Amino acid sequence: MYTASELQQLNQLSDSLIKKTGHHSTEDLIDSLRKVIKYHDWRYYVLSEPIITDFDYDHLFKALRELEAANPELITPDSPTQRVARGLTEEFTQVAHLASMLSLENSYNAEDVIDFDRKVKEITNRPTVEYCVEPKFDGSSIALVYENDQLIRAATRGDGTIGEDITNNARALASVPLSAPFSKHGIYRIELRGEVIIRKDVFEKINETRKNQGLKTFQNSRNTASGSLRLKDPKEVKTRGLEAVLYHVSYAVDNKEANLIATKLHTHYHNIELLHQCGFKTPINELQICKDAAHVSEFLKEWETKRHSFIIETDGMVIKVNDLKMQEQCGSTSHHPRWAIAYKFAAKQAQSKLIDIEYQVGRTGAVTPVAKIEPVRLAGVTISSISLHNEDFITEKDIKMGDTVIVERAGEVIPYIVGVVADLRDGSEKKIHFPMTCPSCDSELIRLEEEAIWRCDNADCPAQAEERVIHYVSKDAMDIDGLGRSTIIDFIQRGYLKNIEYIYDLPYDQIGKLEGWGERSVVKLKEGIESSKGRPIWRLLAALGIRHVGVSTSKDLAKHVKNVFEFEHMPLENLTNIEGIGPKVAQSIFEFFHNKGNIHLLEKLKEYGVNTENRPEDAIAKNNKLQGKTFLFTGSLQQFNRDRAKQLVEENGGTLLSGVSTKLNYLVVGEDAGSKLTKAKAIPSIEVLTEDEFLAMIG
Ligand code: IVH
Repeated sequence: MYTASELQQLNQLSDSLIKKTGHHSTEDLIDSLRKVIKYHDWRYYVLSEPIITDFDYDHLFKALRELEAANPELITPDSPTQRVARGLTEEFTQVAHLASMLSLENSYNAEDVIDFDRKVKEITNRPTVEYCVEPKFDGSSIALVYENDQLIRAATRGDGTIGEDITNNARALASVPLSAPFSKHGIYRIELRGEVIIRKDVFEKINETRKNQGLKTFQNSRNTASGSLRLKDPKEVKTRGLEAVLYHVSYAVDNKEANLIATKLHTHYHNIELLHQCGFKTPINELQICKDAAHVSEFLKEWETKRHSFIIETDGMVIKVNDLKMQEQCGSTSHHPRWAIAYKFAAKQAQSKLIDIEYQVGRTGAVTPVAKIEPVRLAGVTISSISLHNEDFITEKDIKMGDTVIVERAGEVIPYIVGVVADLRDGSEKKIHFPMTCPSCDSELIRLEEEAIWRCDNADCPAQAEERVIHYVSKDAMDIDGLGRSTIIDFIQRGYLKNIEYIYDLPYDQIGKLEGWGERSVVKLKEGIESSKGRPIWRLLAALGIRHVGVSTSKDLAKHVKNVFEFEHMPLENLTNIEGIGPKVAQSIFEFFHNKGNIHLLEKLKEYGVNTENRPEDAIAKNNKLQGKTFLFTGSLQQFNRDRAKQLVEENGGTLLSGVSTKLNYLVVGEDAGSKLTKAKAIPSIEVLTEDEFLAMIG
C-alpha cells in the first residue's frame, strides 16, 4: 500500500503533527492530518500494528475535527471524520464477501409497496408476482461461509464488500452450526446472510443481571448484538445471549464451481426451507408466501400489531420476490437489490398538541382527566384522546394546556403521554386547574390523603351509575346480553335506569315503543336480564364494582361463604385471612359491606330474584393448575362438549376467551378446526393443543 519512502515521510509527518512542530497553512494542516490519520487507520485496522498510542491518535483526530468545524467548506467526503463504519479491532482481519452485502430500500406505506410491485412486474413482464414476506430482524448482519459442509468463516457486513472476520465469535453462538449437510443438496460452497440478534426476553434478563451486579445496563439489543460480535473474548460473547437468524443465500456453487442460484435453487422459500433443514435458525415460522401485492399488504397489516408479541425485535418486514430466476432478472443497484424492499413499521412515538381536558367520572366516583389532543397517527391508529390518570400525573409531567406532548404507544398497549416538549412553548400555554366539583352532578370532590385520586362521593351521581351499570352487565361480571353501553346511556337519560337494581325493573312496554326497538329485541333483552339472575355469586361479587375486587378475587371470596350477606358480618381479620386477599383489598370489601346503600342494593337484587347463595353446582377452581392461562376451544370436540370444556378450564383456575388474539395462551383443537387454528398459528405465542394434551395438562 505504501512504499518505503512514503512510510518514512508519513512517520516524520506524524511525529511533527503530534509534537506540533513545523508551520502549515490551515489547508496544509488539514491535508496532513488526513494523510496521517488514514495511515494510522491502516496500521491499526489492516496491519494490526499500531505505532502510536490511542491518546496520540485521538489527539490527531480531535485536531482535524476542530479544524474542519471551524472551516466547514474544507470538509471532503473522504475525510476520516466522515467515516461512519468504524469499530474494527486489531484482532479482526478483513475479508471479502463472496457476493456483495447490499442494503435494502425502505418503504413506509402501502403505496410504496404497490410501486415496488409495479416495477417488479414491469421488469419480469408478469401480470402478478409472488412474494415472500418475513420480519426484518433488528440486529447486526452477518455472513457465514460453509465449504465442504464445514463453517469456514463468519464475517460482519463491513462496507458491504469487505467485512471483519468474526469466525471465532460466531463459533461461540450455539445457533450457528459448525457443520451443515449442504453436500447432500449438491452444494460445495455456500454463503448465507443473516442477522445476529438478542431475543427480547433474553435482553431483559441480561440487563437485570447486569443491574444486580452493579454493571451499566445496555441501551438496546441491536447495539448490544453488534458490540458483542466484536468482543475480543469469545467466552464473553457466549454470555451475551446472541443468536443468528439466517434469511438469505447469497452464493452457492457445486464442486465444479457452477453457480447453483436460480438453476438448482428455485425459490427464496425453498432456500429458507433448506437452511431450516440444515439446522439453522430461520424465519420459516413467520414467513408468508403472498400470491400478489394485495396479499402482501394484508400480511403487513397483520404484523403491525403482531410484531410487539414477537420474541425478536423487528422494525419492519422484508418483501422478497420468491422466484430466484425473477430475482436475477430484477438485479441490483449498487445499494440494494431490486427484488426486495423493506417495509418499515409506523413509529412508536409521535407529537401532538393538547387542546382540551375532559374529566370522566368512573363507577367508584374516581375522576380521571382525559387529554384531548389533535388527532395523530401512531403505530397504525389515530389517537385523539389519552388518559392523564390523575392530578399528580399532570403536575409531575408539568403538562400545560396547549403544550406539545409526546405520545407513545407500544403495540396494543393503551397510548400514554411520555412528556411535553417545553422548548416548543410560546407563552400561550395555560396551567391546568383540576375541578373541585363533579362534572356530572356538581358535588364537591374529595381526595383522601393517601390517594392520588379525586372522587365524587354522591351515591346518586348519574355518571357513576352509568359506569356501574356498564360494569355490572359486562362479560366478566353478570354477562348480560343485549344491554350495551349505548343502550345503558339512553336508558339513564330516559330515567329508566338510575342504578344497578333498576336493570331488573325496566319498563319493557315503554321500551318496546322506542325507535329501533322491536318485539324481538325486547324479548332478547328480557331473556338476557332474566338469565343473569341465576349466575354464581362470584359473578355478582365481581359485578358490584367493589374497589380492587376483580374476577379472581371474587372467585377467592365466593369460596368462603354460603351467601353474599355473610360478608356483612365478617370481621376484617377473617377477610384478611382469605388466601389471595391482602389488607388493602380486605379493607375495601369490609367498607363495601358496611355501607347501608350497598346492602340495600343487594337486598333489592335478591328481591328481584338475583341469586345470592353459593350453590353446590357453582363450585369453581378446584385447583390452580391453569391459573393465569387463557384457553379457547375450536373444531368439533371428541372427548367433551363445549360446556364441559368451559367447566374444566374454570375449575382449574383458567380463563376462557372468545376469540384468537395475542392474549390467548392455548388453542385446543378438535376435528376439522378452521380459521381460528389458521389465525392462532400466525401468532407465535399461542400454543396449539390436542384434546388429549389439554386433558394431560389438568391431569
Ligand atoms: S434480505 C440483499 N431479510 O436489514 C438482501 N435483510 O436494512 C439481503 N435484515 O442489510 C437482505 N432482516 O442486514 C433481509 N429478513 C431479512 C432481514 C434483513 C434484517 C437487514 C439486513 C439488511 C438490512 C437492510
